[in-house]
Amino acid sequence: MKAKIIMITSGKGGVGKSSICAGLGYYLARLGKKVLILEMDSGLRCLDIMLGVSERTVHDISDVLCGRCEPIKAIYSSPITDNLSMMPATLRPDSNYSSKLFYKLCKGLSHYYDFILIETPAGFGRTLIDITRVCDLALLIVTPDPISMRDAKILSDYLDAHGLTRQRIVINKVKTTRGRLEVLPHLDVVIDTVLEPLIGVIPYEPEMVRALAQGRMISTRYTAGVAIQNIARRLTGEFVELAVE
Ligand SMILES: Nc1ncnc2c1ncn2[C@@H]1O[C@H](COP(=O)(O)OP(=O)(O)OP(=O)(O)O)[C@@H](O)[C@H]1O
Ligand SMILES: [Mg+2]
Repeated sequence: MKAKIIMITSGKGGVGKSSICAGLGYYLARLGKKVLILEMDSGLRCLDIMLGVSERTVHDISDVLCGRCEPIKAIYSSPITDNLSMMPATLRPDSNYSSKLFYKLCKGLSHYYDFILIETPAGFGRTLIDITRVCDLALLIVTPDPISMRDAKILSDYLDAHGLTRQRIVINKVKTTRGRLEVLPHLDVVIDTVLEPLIGVIPYEPEMVRALAQGRMISTRYTAGVAIQNIARRLTGEFVELAVE
């Protein structure tokens, strides 16, 4: 087994990286894939709550990267579904780690999973470069507003410059009018600004907030749930039409 390692990233914060990372992990696992989520947002972790493991968390990724424990000790299986595990970020904001050990850790773990999803911190920095080195693909999470779009373009160029040229856009929190997504030219503008292919469009859905705060995943009874499931299916290589309505 050799995992596809995918970063879930954004220039601007608060656009939905954690929510989408948890949702994709869930739907990939439901498709029978073995999934590990690595949270790299030092000091600001939340995926442990979203994935229902926070009560059991003893060790985190900084314990592994500083040699305080074996990787297996910091991997927690999510009660939400089979095949889904996570390694939480540290709660210490100023935690330091070795880039070399991070590379070795990801390469080592890739033999045990089909997918490793890594949530990056928003913006730039050493951690982002370290994650870039191990990833096959970047999902750029963008909301359809000028600030998020411009930040995504800068981030996309930055990833290109560091050798990660395989990138896809996920447009999140798209407003709906009478149940229909507000689309063109809105979404075209995002693609034309960021200049990368689109892999999914997720509507603004208040249930996303409720579900994740309660350690549940958004279900496919909601369009947002279907949209995330469709991205998961595309990541497995399945052709799923991009129905934007
Ligand atoms: N499609 C959506 N519809 C409605 N709310 C959403 C949607 N996606 C995410 N949210 C909400 O937006 C907020 C920010 O989401 P989230 O924490 O996933 O973003 P983030 O990019 O990981 O943030 P950070 O940069 O702080 O890590 C949360 O309250 C989340 O529930
Ligand atoms: Mg986050």
